[in-house]
Amino acid sequence: MGLFFCVIGHPIEHSLSPWIHGQFLNMSGKQGIYRTLDVPEKELGQTLQFLKKLEIDGFNITVPHKERIIKYLDELDPLAEQMGAVNTVVHKEGKWFGYNTDGKGYIRSLQSEYPDLFEDQTDKKALIIGAGGAARGIYFALMDSGFKQIDLANRTVERAHQIKSSNISTDVFSLQEAEEQLGIYDLVIQTTKAGMYPNVHEHPLSPMNVKHRAVVSDIVYRPIETTFLAAARASGARIHFGHGMLLYQAAFSFELWTGIPIDPAPLLTPLEQKLKGE
Ligand code: ATR
Repeated sequence: MGLFFCVIGHPIEHSLSPWIHGQFLNMSGKQGIYRTLDVPEKELGQTLQFLKKLEIDGFNITVPHKERIIKYLDELDPLAEQMGAVNTVVHKEGKWFGYNTDGKGYIRSLQSEYPDLFEDQTDKKALIIGAGGAARGIYFALMDSGFKQIDLANRTVERAHQIKSSNISTDVFSLQEAEEQLGIYDLVIQTTKAGMYPNVHEHPLSPMNVKHRAVVSDIVYRPIETTFLAAARASGARIHFGHGMLLYQAAFSFELWTGIPIDPAPLLTPLEQKLKGE
């Protein structure tokens, strides 16, 4: 019998996960299907009961259920626990195990394009813009990867204080303060929804004063090149697109389900073309 996976979210119709996991199934020579399940908040419990009976091999869980899923799991990975959010559930011998591959996926995507960022991290400074779930995941994964100074900037400064860990050095700024001192950072990561389709002209701050050759990254992938990234490129930064994170977090999920490691790099260009509607 083939493998059976799905992604649960709401809304979910534009999810790229079925395409990505379909490619992974082909690449690994496995038989299986991956479907979307559109589940509003109040129907989560009954949907999960149904999936348990179906003996699904694993599933992804996305907005708005990443936190609420936790109470339905048998075990939780320490990283997912630290983040308070799960995006991958593995079914093993009747039990459900929760993981979070978002932050790790983001780091792996960045590392595969800019390995130099991960050499001598002790001297490097990173700034994360935003303080939502995505920012939290990236903050902890970046910390795990060896960065020792990770600052946070957010429109609502108080939310950024809530993420801060005592294990590393973190200063918290308003967006305006961050904009003024952008030149000190080797890595700047934009995690807010500003700039996401249809608000394509928005950006949380101007990256005009970014350090030359710094890496500026945006996790928004619709459009692929946000206003923020375009301005950073014009200011001399090296840029990193958001769709890589999507592929690498999916690869980690697939590996958790099947034990098969996947290198998703060959899918970067096809995914980019898909997102551009080519
Ligand atoms: P996610 O879990 O996807 O990260 P979230 O928890 O809704 O989403 O967080 C969204 C982030 O985007 C927050 O940092 C939010 O700032 P606030 O905490 O001040 O609300 C930020 N954000 C959303 N729209 C923004 C905008 N137009 N300009 C600046 N920041 C914005």
